[in-house]
Amino acid sequence: MTTLIAVVVGVGGGVGRALAEALCERGAHGHVVGLSRSRPAGWTDNDARTWIAADILDEASLAAAAARIAAIGVPDRIIVATGRLGAVGRGPEKTMRSLDLAGLTEAFTHNAAGPALAAKHLLPLTPRDRPSLFAALSARVGSIGDNRSGGWYGYRASKAALNMIVHTLAIEHARTRPLGVCVALHPGTVDTALSAPFLAGVSPERLFTPRRSAAALLKVMDALGPGDTGGFFAWDGSPIPW
Ligand SMILES: NC(=O)c1ccc[n+]([C@@H]2O[C@H](COP(=O)([O-])OP(=O)(O)OC[C@H]3O[C@@H](n4cnc5c(N)ncnc54)[C@H](OP(=O)(O)O)[C@@H]3O)[C@@H](O)[C@H]2O)c1
Repeated sequence: MTTLIAVVVGVGGGVGRALAEALCERGAHGHVVGLSRSRPAGWTDNDARTWIAADILDEASLAAAAARIAAIGVPDRIIVATGRLGAVGRGPEKTMRSLDLAGLTEAFTHNAAGPALAAKHLLPLTPRDRPSLFAALSARVGSIGDNRSGGWYGYRASKAALNMIVHTLAIEHARTRPLGVCVALHPGTVDTALSAPFLAGVSPERLFTPRRSAAALLKVMDALGPGDTGGFFAWDGSPIPW
């Protein structure tokens, strides 16, 4: 019998790790596979979960990971939870005066190109004859329609680019997998390494633990169907404008 697998790319991150833990706890999948550049602290492989090394910017590592996943089973849920808020050593740009090619390139590379390459190698593993879901974690600030405060140029624009990539993937994916769903999801404001420097003004009710965000995201994913493919949704299931 086919083993159905859930795959979390970026399992070393705050939300990615919480998603993998929640998927293991639910036990709805025969196996949970976590991908990241280095083994997450405290992660041990067992009957329920396996860690595989992969860098979303290294296609050879993604191809090797895909081959290992295929040997374990068929992934019907793939979540890309990688992301980067600003270039290493500096935060997101507050003004156009901070823009430079290196910072913008890094944002697009990590937030748009990397998830696109992960999709290139992992989406072909999804089943053709049964429902599946591919979700990339985006961010509400990647919404052009919702942008009222400006700033964070590279992060906003690279998440908008990710949204376009996911929408385009959804169109191509549906041609061979009409039951497949591809979406971009906003996890809420979550207390992780990525957001830590920017949480000072966030009220406690708006700040999620990774565990709470993961639970909300899985609930949203469970409720999505082929009619939702190509969409951009928040942690509570509400659609976000492009
Ligand atoms: N936290 C929030 O409030 C918030 C809000 C909106 C959207 N999001 C989005 O939610 C997602 C998860 O964020 P998070 O808060 O969990 O951040 P996080 O804890 O910083 O996790 C991000 C993960 O991405 C991984 N990553 C970066 N580049 C990679 C690469 N080339 N190959 C493999 N992994 C790579 C990092 O791995 P390393 O550990 O190896 O660097 C890190 O573990 C991101 O897409 C983020 O933009 C977060």
